[in-house]
Amino acid sequence: QMTLPSGYVVRPLSRTDNQTRSNTSFLKTLEVLTTVGAITDEAFQERFQYLKEHSDKYFTIVIEDMNVPATTPRSATSSSPSLVTPGRGKIVAAGTVLVERKFIRQLGLVGHIEDIAVAADQQGKKLGLRIIETLKAIGQSQGCYKVILDCSEKNVPFYEKCGFERKGVEMGWYV
Ligand code: ACO
Repeated sequence: QMTLPSGYVVRPLSRTDNQTRSNTSFLKTLEVLTTVGAITDEAFQERFQYLKEHSDKYFTIVIEDMNVPATTPRSATSSSPSLVTPGRGKIVAAGTVLVERKFIRQLGLVGHIEDIAVAADQQGKKLGLRIIETLKAIGQSQGCYKVILDCSEKNVPFYEKCGFERKGVEMGWYV
């Protein structure tokens, strides 16, 4: 029912999405949330492998803009990031739902939405809404009886538009 802009696709995170010096980087997209830090490709692959081995619990999706020029040459000597990688799109949004397995509610399942990020220059195009709708659908299809998330006050109107309602209070303990 909800359509993405032309040439945009929603898909699961892939092991090739860690191209930090290209336009495809998933990690760069996450920087709208907080500091991501330096992550080597080896470390990324190890984390990706873990998620893959727990694919009944971790569902990370991205939106990719396939409208980038496919043939722009990339200078091998340039130290600045190239604008495009031939044949690839650009990741512009991401999000995760984790499926928690409970004892209560007769071994109920709860979906936890985490790390919703839309690239700064792509906000306001309903990409965040599309990420949330996809994660809700995944949670529902996995059998969750509810899907919950924590957010800042300023994001409340966005999540209300996504069909969520205020519930409880978030608390944190930082090590
Ligand atoms: N205040 C009021 N309304 C808002 C706001 C806001 N701050 N943000 C979005 N909306 C509305 C939009 O106007 C739109 O309403 P409409 O359907 O009436 O036009 C609707 O919500 C959907 O908006 P989208 O275009 O899908 O929003 P966007 O793609 O910009 O994504 C997001 C929203 C994810 C909050 C994005 O701005 C972002 O990445 N922000 C920085 C990182 C962040 O805060 N992430 C969420 C952290 S919480 C978590 O991860 C669980």
